[in-house]
Amino acid sequence: QRAPVGIIGAGPAGLFLALLLKREGIESVVIDSRTRPDIEGTIRAGVLEQWCADLMRDLGVGERMDREGHFHEGITLQFGGERHHLNFVELTGGKQVVVYPQHDVLIDLIAHLEGQGQPMLFSVKDTALHDLESDHPSITFTDPEGQAQRIECDFIAGCDGFHGPSRQAIPRRREFQKVYPFGWLGVLVEAPPSYHELIYSNHERGFALLSTRTPEIQRMYIQCNPRDDLKNYPDERIWEELHARLDVPGHSITEGRIFQKGIIAMRSFVCETMQHGRLFLAGDACHIVPPTGAKGLNLAVGDVLRLSRALTRHYKIGDDSKLRTYAPEALRRIWLAERFSWYMTTMLHRDPDETDFEQQIHVADLAYVTQSRAAATALAENYVGLPVLE
Ligand code: DHB
Repeated sequence: QRAPVGIIGAGPAGLFLALLLKREGIESVVIDSRTRPDIEGTIRAGVLEQWCADLMRDLGVGERMDREGHFHEGITLQFGGERHHLNFVELTGGKQVVVYPQHDVLIDLIAHLEGQGQPMLFSVKDTALHDLESDHPSITFTDPEGQAQRIECDFIAGCDGFHGPSRQAIPRRREFQKVYPFGWLGVLVEAPPSYHELIYSNHERGFALLSTRTPEIQRMYIQCNPRDDLKNYPDERIWEELHARLDVPGHSITEGRIFQKGIIAMRSFVCETMQHGRLFLAGDACHIVPPTGAKGLNLAVGDVLRLSRALTRHYKIGDDSKLRTYAPEALRRIWLAERFSWYMTTMLHRDPDETDFEQQIHVADLAYVTQSRAAATALAENYVGLPVLE
């Protein structure tokens, strides 16, 4: 097979890239090692920045989001037993976020791409990248029928996540990492919404987050030990922790049947070597943020918006300057999102390795963002999404 652009990975980065390129008339092939039901069923975060929701509409995949997504004017920060509302619409001159789960975004993208005849291959094995430093790189893999396949391309987009083969195909890399000594236990609950917006709580027993999915299903998280076992968290203990960390006098979160539980570890990671010859990395393949603030998907889409413009210039006017500056220009925004995700995470969690002094500083940080309009504006502009292309 031949395709101008070979895309490894059918997550947010790979699928948005395929659609952005298709809009410009540039063909691509998407491959992924996971099954389609796996991709469409994996529960991740669910907040779309304003520009990202606008891009969905622009690309013709925003209909269900507009119908089923939850448009939130702001968030609530809870600490010292009190709730404080931050109104993003007012602080940012009209910007909002949409709570719409990542796997629903993927379902909509795959259906739309399929309708447009986009080549997509799921459940492939043994993916390998070749001749990246030449002008005819290729991808080899085994297809679901067990046949060895090769895609010859002009460019390869490595959108295959933190554990994928693309980053590993770059021999010398400049990388930065921080691993946090805590994780999140996330649950899906059959219950009506407890509150009209997300609540991020800093509590002495640890962080908690109240989010939503549908009018019937709610998403909630509590800080936990990342190496803990789900067996240590029977439903009663989860509710005890959620109530302790999220309830305030006069308002208690609504319980329901817990039908899904999982523990996630948390890290910050940046691979600054986002390009190697004709391979370009995007999304989790080159950066990870901790989940607080839900920047992962938005950051991945920002990368591929930039990459699609650079590739479009290559194919339309033979100009490679934006391909050469892809990494340094993308990294400026990536580091700002890394900073914000780290800031939200450290401010809101209880780190067992920190001193009481540092804990008090985090509470002071929360007091500051809820008292000072300047500080609140800084949080708000990051939460709704910093500018994507300069
Ligand atoms: C969700 C996840 C987040 O990390 C966040 O900051 C907000 C919401 C969610 O899964 O709904």
